[in-house]
Amino acid sequence: MRPFLLATAIGISLTCALTTLAGCGPPMPPSKPISELTPQEARGYQVFQQSCARCHHAYSEHGLRGPGLQHLFKHKYLPSGAPANDDRVSEAFLHGRGMMPAFGNKLDDQQVQDLMVYLHTL
Ligand code: HEC
Repeated sequence: MRPFLLATAIGISLTCALTTLAGCGPPMPPSKPISELTPQEARGYQVFQQSCARCHHAYSEHGLRGPGLQHLFKHKYLPSGAPANDDRVSEAFLHGRGMMPAFGNKLDDQQVQDLMVYLHTL
């Protein structure tokens, strides 16, 4: 009885350690469906399609040319390790980062705001 319990306990902790390592962790809340976006979020979605979608998946964490952006603000940290907050995210795309071009001159203030609101739905 005892060895069996011990083996079970080890098995459970191993499984937890492995899923955490694999990044499975606790399940993330789902992204807001596109059909339920508010008008401002929907405008942000358009900005994303025009400027970001060729390099980033919005509804997957799998990388395209850049990292997948699903759950962007639901994680504590960005792929770079910076805290996942508005300042760091907007800084990344306004000034560019690594292979990502800067969008500071391509998007107006309204588009940036709409895009940020949309990114919060992911
Ligand atoms: C030409 C491809 C390309 C486009 C277009 C692009 N990105 Fe990126 N993006 C990247 C790459 C590559 C990285 C990884 C950069 C690195 O850390 O070296 C990245 C990283 C990021 C990150 C993570 C920053 C961090 O600190 O980890 C965010 C957020 C991001 N992009 C948002 C956007 C948004 C929003 C847009 C549209 C306005 C956009 N990107 C357009 C390629 C692109």
